[in-house]
Amino acid sequence: MDKVRKTFDKWAENGRAELMEEEHGKNVSKFLQTLSFDKPFTFLDVGCGNGWVVRKIASKKNCKKIIGIDKSKKMIIQAKKKTVNNKEKFIHTDIESWSYKGKFDLIFSMESIYYADSIEKALKKIYKILKPGGMFFCGTDFYTDNKATARWANIMKIQMHLHSKKEWKDLFQNAGFNVKTKHIKDLKSKKKWKREFGTLFILGKKPEK
Ligand SMILES: C[S@@+](CC[C@H](N)C(=O)[O-])C[C@H]1O[C@@H](n2cnc3c(N)ncnc32)[C@H](O)[C@@H]1O
Repeated sequence: MDKVRKTFDKWAENGRAELMEEEHGKNVSKFLQTLSFDKPFTFLDVGCGNGWVVRKIASKKNCKKIIGIDKSKKMIIQAKKKTVNNKEKFIHTDIESWSYKGKFDLIFSMESIYYADSIEKALKKIYKILKPGGMFFCGTDFYTDNKATARWANIMKIQMHLHSKKEWKDLFQNAGFNVKTKHIKDLKSKKKWKREFGTLFILGKKPEK
């Protein structure tokens, strides 16, 4: 079995999915607060883990449809167990090979895309399943400029594609997106990198036609 899937299957069973929810929760919530959800929207979370972002967004009244996908089957089992709202849907698949016919207004992903076999392929798929004018919000703590996290790949011992902020922007541009970036810092964190660099969000807009 694929090593990434195997690792996250284990995490789903040993409580680390909830630890990620805690670890990522503060910065993701801060980021989501910068967005407006005042019009009806459809939403996809790529690499949704135990589904905590899907649950959070599903509770918004303008959320018309929401799906979380993950290549770890056990993460999807956890996510389904935690479902609180009948809008939430979870699917076991990787983004690259997912054959989905519809299109989303908003696509989100936290700490997931750099585990893909090919970031280029993942971005190409995400671009394809976004509506024109739709947005992809991609959060990563693991990027070259953030030196403290760049060593995670040695600890994880699975494929993790390390890129700088500039390289991430180029990857998005090459996939067709208009790109902006945003750092969300946690000034009260005990971790120096969270105070100084924080989570890098890459915001990709699919141009209107
Ligand atoms: C570090 S976890 C983050 C989970 C969640 N986004 C969070 O913040 O708690 C990365 C997740 O991405 C999933 N993943 C990795 N590569 C993927 C891919 N190509 N397609 C879909 N899911 C993927 C993993 O199985 C794992 O559950």
